[in-house]
Amino acid sequence: MKKLDDLIWGVTIAAAQTEGAYDKDGRGPSIWDTFTQKKFRIKDGSNAKVATDFYHRYKEDIDFTVAIGLKIFRFSISWSRILPEGTGKVNQKGIDFYNKVIEYCLEVGVEPWITTYHWDLPQILQDQGGWTNRKIIDWYVEYVTILRDNFADRVKYWILINEGIVCMGGGYFLGVHAPGKRGIRNFLASTHHLLLSQAKGFKILKEKQGLKVGTAISCTKIDPYQDTIRDQKAAKRLDTLMNRLFIEPHLGLGYPDDDLPILKRMAKYYKIGDLEALRTDFDFWGIQTYAREVVRSAWYVPYLGAMRVKPKKRGVATSIMGWETYPKGISDFLERFAKYDSQKPLWLSECGMALAKDEDEQHRIEYYQKVIEEMKAIIHKGVNLKGVLLWTLVDNFEWAEGYLPKFGIIALDRKTLKRTMKPSAIWLQKYLSTIKAAI
Ligand code: NOJ
Repeated sequence: MKKLDDLIWGVTIAAAQTEGAYDKDGRGPSIWDTFTQKKFRIKDGSNAKVATDFYHRYKEDIDFTVAIGLKIFRFSISWSRILPEGTGKVNQKGIDFYNKVIEYCLEVGVEPWITTYHWDLPQILQDQGGWTNRKIIDWYVEYVTILRDNFADRVKYWILINEGIVCMGGGYFLGVHAPGKRGIRNFLASTHHLLLSQAKGFKILKEKQGLKVGTAISCTKIDPYQDTIRDQKAAKRLDTLMNRLFIEPHLGLGYPDDDLPILKRMAKYYKIGDLEALRTDFDFWGIQTYAREVVRSAWYVPYLGAMRVKPKKRGVATSIMGWETYPKGISDFLERFAKYDSQKPLWLSECGMALAKDEDEQHRIEYYQKVIEEMKAIIHKGVNLKGVLLWTLVDNFEWAEGYLPKFGIIALDRKTLKRTMKPSAIWLQKYLSTIKAAI
């Protein structure tokens, strides 16, 4: 039987949150460059023009990864760096940058993983409707083909889309993330196109032998507030939206529109063969779970904002994100997932907690200790969990929240860009030194 020591530990970062160098070496603007320029969109009024300056400091960050004992370095590619015009002419300097990152990982003995899309669409594609335009399927295929042809000789593990529900829900339904679009029509169209793009991207990557290609799903545990039929029904609807919608079409189960009737309107965007085309036999699933929400029936179901019973009201602890810290969600979801697709390996492809101040570090350590307990329980139940990737290495740009929440195990001095290991990094380094697992 698998042991805790067999789990592989790594870290995840994303281009838009770390790279900076927003106008360097031919990179085109992304939707996040545009969004951060708008007033009142980012809590602290910040942007990611510099971020952690990973573009110039990647070696230092990969060195930290090694020093801590982490074996996987998952990073995302900025579409706008590779194709500044969204499609067409490839920016060789962009390719060179990611080659350097990959080469350095391999040189120091860390496995590079690529995420193809972590929310930073080229603005020029957004100007043509972005994910609401069905043409995006071809745009994405072109982009993924370029990534495959340039990097798949050295990178084995690929994650296609990171957390579809968050980028579609935030960006095309609530308007709180780039590109700031709202409304159910935007949401349904963009979601359908995103899922179709992911399914096609999978096929493109799998043309190359030996690759392991998966997706990363945001999972939020949803519980009813009261033990009433109304609250239970409401919770089920929200769970369908936030969790099942981005999973079940790929499993060939179609859209879960019985439990969320508004999804029937999705049919407006179908073309013949779409539902079959969505079916995708991923090599692995990445699970990312940060929070639990407790909800009640409200004037608008399934709108979380209206249904949410705030953690404060429930008297439970939250992170600085206002999310209930709920490590148990990890085993809940891994188990739930194993029931869906029992054959496939699972990864906790992100896992972390945000704090406001470095003085609170003990909470992060305790959180990761609980995560370890959860993982232990789950592998004892026989769930095929392979490993865990932390969110994240260095404190970075947390989207609409700016730089206030600190998810990193390494602190960043935003003036000097100096990195310093926090107590959680030191604790982890010690823990990992006792683990012998290799990839
Ligand atoms: C998941 C997202 O993938 C990542 O970009 C984000 O920073 C973390 N959640 C924390 O909110």
